Amino acid sequence: MQEKKMEVPPDNSSGNEYEQFTWQQKVGLSMKTPIGLFGIGSTTVCITLTVLGLLGHITGLISNPYAAIVTFLVFPAGAVFGLFLIPVSGYLRHKKWFRDNLNKGNVVIDFGKKNHRKTVLLVLVLTVVNLSVFSLVIYEAYHFTESDFFCGAICHTVMDPEYTAYQRSPHAKVGCVSCHIGSGAEWYVKAKLSGLRQVKAVLDGSYSTPIPAPVEHLRPAQDTCEECHWPEKFHGKKIKKFISYSNDDQEQPYIQEIALHIGGRNPVTDTFEGIHWHVSNNVKVQYQSLDDKRTSIGRIKVSKPSGVTEEYTIDGADDGQGGKWRTMDCIDCHNRPTHVYDTLEQKVDFGLYSKKIDGTIPGIREDSITVLEKEFTSRDEAREQIVETLLALMAKRHDADFVAEHEESLISSGKYLLDAYLANVWPQMKVTWGTYKQHLGHQYEDEGYGCFRCHDEEHQTEFGKTISQSCDLCHDEPL
Ligand code: HEC
Ligand code: HEC
Ligand code: HEC
Ligand code: HEC
Ligand code: HEC
Repeated sequence: MQEKKMEVPPDNSSGNEYEQFTWQQKVGLSMKTPIGLFGIGSTTVCITLTVLGLLGHITGLISNPYAAIVTFLVFPAGAVFGLFLIPVSGYLRHKKWFRDNLNKGNVVIDFGKKNHRKTVLLVLVLTVVNLSVFSLVIYEAYHFTESDFFCGAICHTVMDPEYTAYQRSPHAKVGCVSCHIGSGAEWYVKAKLSGLRQVKAVLDGSYSTPIPAPVEHLRPAQDTCEECHWPEKFHGKKIKKFISYSNDDQEQPYIQEIALHIGGRNPVTDTFEGIHWHVSNNVKVQYQSLDDKRTSIGRIKVSKPSGVTEEYTIDGADDGQGGKWRTMDCIDCHNRPTHVYDTLEQKVDFGLYSKKIDGTIPGIREDSITVLEKEFTSRDEAREQIVETLLALMAKRHDADFVAEHEESLISSGKYLLDAYLANVWPQMKVTWGTYKQHLGHQYEDEGYGCFRCHDEEHQTEFGKTISQSCDLCHDEPL
């Protein structure tokens, strides 16, 4: 302490009032403007809160994801803003000093002086501490913005349909980002940029309802799906059971079992066969869609391993203007691998099959369908009315005694219908039964979905060859 005082004698040579301050006082003073003090205060408070928040998240004491927004985005932003204000304050103050003719030599750092070294060291240490905190924050923030919660729940109203369907899908444990972003910095940046546009759309309410499908700029499946599933792995047949009922027979299910030739390498010919042939090595199927939904296909170009290329066209195909070309990948069949919505009848039939809907009550299948087809203005309205509506419809069909006797099972059937509704319909997002249809198979053939977009025996090569619709190309005849 002694030494320091002696080392820095006040220098009054220019006669300026600021000159009498020591170097350290000047450094200190340059921050002591309202702007500088605000900066210091805001940095200190925000850094402390960030560190506390970080500790909370790392130890698991804080698990509320909304707190994560504050910890990883709001507090660090406050700290950075504060840090930014400190040099601004110094700059303004020094400008004033220079204007007042301060001797420049006085604010220069002189490493020969111990207190200068000490101050510089302090600044360095503080900077290292800040940088460490910030890199931890950036690391955690990166993971947070990749979390399913961030993607699925922050913009709750908008993403609720996709998030709900995702949570009950086979991919419920696969992060949104594995399919929507994949690995690598390029797509991360693209995703964050489009994320910013989406945040803006949510804030000013300009997002589309429903969110349009297909997703135009989805990353090609080679970089996403194929990280976990690869075409060489598919082999043999997959048996699928389709269970349905009719209004006339609510108790005896009609079961169709079909074997799908999902494909694989044929050891005899060493070629790839079956359904996954389209995405096998050395095969490239490209198609030109005439609409944004990819439901109307003009031309199809196939490059085969043998080097042969074939092109199929249909009457009315675009002459090459307008229609968009796309290389077929997983998404052209599996467009709903995780955002899987049920069809209304499937859901009712599943209720009957699992006995959640009491099939012994005559007319319940037809009335259940009527209930689910009804348009409610909101999910809350559906919550209030679905069970009541089923009871009311049943009261028209049966006498009061019958309804009273079966009340319990009607109420539990009604609750099943409500759950089915809530899992598939969001009036606010204009998402309802059938809004998002799938391409796997041909149940939506009339609306241009599925395999029969190409396998229609109508697209032809110049030699008149068509793409087969023969049932046994894809499956063994239904039993
Ligand atoms: C298994 C892969 C996969 C996962 C995991 C996944 N998605 Fe998707 N998602 C897709 C595909 C494929 C599409 C494109 C559908 C299309 O183009 O028709 C899509 C489409 C969407 C759409 C557009 C609307 C629609 O239904 O087509 C939104 C929104 C969306 N996903 C959000 C999410 C969110 C949020 C998560 C995580 C909670 C998530 N996705 C997880 C594959 C996935
Ligand atoms: C991070 C790994 C991962 C990624 C990425 C991924 N999947 Fe999957 N997929 C899985 C797992 C795990 C299962 C569940 C396997 C099971 O339950 O037997 C699965 C199951 C499936 C199934 C079978 C579903 C069923 O009903 O049995 C299909 C089809 C599928 N995935 C397609 C896709 C498509 C298309 C994409 C890209 C859009 C994709 N997957 C991306 C891991 C992944
Ligand atoms: C031409 C349409 C088509 C394309 C393209 C396609 N698939 Fe499939 N895939 C099917 C059909 C049809 C099934 C059987 C039906 C089912 O599982 O529901 C199937 C089944 C699967 C299964 C389940 C297999 C099993 O043994 O249960 C997985 C996983 C899968 N596909 C992943 C993929 C991936 C990944 C890609 C892209 C590399 C892809 N598929 C491309 C039509 C296709
Ligand atoms: C974009 C057009 C397109 C769509 C959509 C499409 N296919 Fe194909 N598919 C083709 C073409 C082209 C061929 C080859 C025809 C030929 O060379 O004879 C083919 C061939 C096949 C083959 C025979 C492969 C072999 O050589 O062993 C099967 C099986 C098949 N498709 C199943 C399906 C199924 C199942 C779907 C729907 C889930 C589907 N395809 C959707 C265009 C399409
Ligand atoms: C290009 C391939 C392809 C052709 C050709 C084809 N199917 Fe299918 N079919 C499928 C696929 C894929 C599914 C499974 C859909 C799913 O997994 O949900 C399916 C499902 C079915 C189902 C059960 C689901 C439903 O929609 O009711 C029946 C029944 C059926 N096919 C009948 C036929 C008959 C009959 C023919 C011949 C006229 C035929 N299919 C031709 C691919 C094909």
